Amino acid sequence: MTRLPQHIAIIMDGNGRWAKLHGKKRSDGHFAGAQALFDTMVAACNLGIKYTTVYAFSTENWNRPDEEVEGLMSLLFAKLDINVFMDNDVRFCVIGNTSRLPQDVQERMNYCLEQSANNKRGTLTVALSYSSKWEIIEATKKIARRVKEGTLRVEDIDDKTIDASLNTSFLPDPDLLIRTGGELRLSNYLLWQCAYTELYFCDTFWPDFNEEELCKAIYDYQQRERRFGKTSEQVTVDAGQQDSKQE
Ligand code: IPE
Ligand code: IPE
Ligand code: MG
Repeated sequence: MTRLPQHIAIIMDGNGRWAKLHGKKRSDGHFAGAQALFDTMVAACNLGIKYTTVYAFSTENWNRPDEEVEGLMSLLFAKLDINVFMDNDVRFCVIGNTSRLPQDVQERMNYCLEQSANNKRGTLTVALSYSSKWEIIEATKKIARRVKEGTLRVEDIDDKTIDASLNTSFLPDPDLLIRTGGELRLSNYLLWQCAYTELYFCDTFWPDFNEEELCKAIYDYQQRERRFGKTSEQVTVDAGQQDSKQE
């Protein structure tokens, strides 16, 4: 329990293949996936993970068949239940181009954002109509506008300027990224934020993901040495100094 990741990002993939495997419709896979999300959110909170950020719908997912997109939007509307967040003391947040979402989804989403804003046990951020390239383009536009207005000098732009201009400005960078469903790619998710994130891929389809799977990923993470470009010796010395500061 001493080396817990503070922030876990998850690419919840494999709902469609899970459904196929069980002779069900893709929409059944998404339905089962929503349950896995709530179970994982509770498990993460119970373990003491402060931030969980899940990829629920990408910019590219708008290109799926209309029927599937409509089904996903209805599921989102049905599952945005404020009680889940209040009962677990979890703050609900969203990143992405939410203006593209149906009006009823936006209204329910805003209600959950407002009502859960002071919850303290954990933060669940859902990426909806999100892609990292879209987010970086928007951040670039914001920064360019500030330069044009004269409130920011070009030579003062640094990584903090970009961090603060992204949708994720309220979050620390993820320590661990989990992708279920067996694909080995990031699919346009948190590309800037994951510069030094530990990556974990598993074959489990998202609807089968649970507390045990989460613990496996965290345990794997805990065996790793995060060097951030330094040598292993430096990292060991740094850790020793941190420990003596805490004592
Ligand atoms: C992830 O599962 C959920 C969304 C992208 C909305 P998929 O729907 O991508 O499932 P597979 O990858 O086809 O199995
Ligand atoms: C990534 O999964 C997006 C989400 C999990 C929401 P996809 O299934 O859309 O990714 P690709 O197309 O396999 O890269
Ligand atoms: Mg997929």
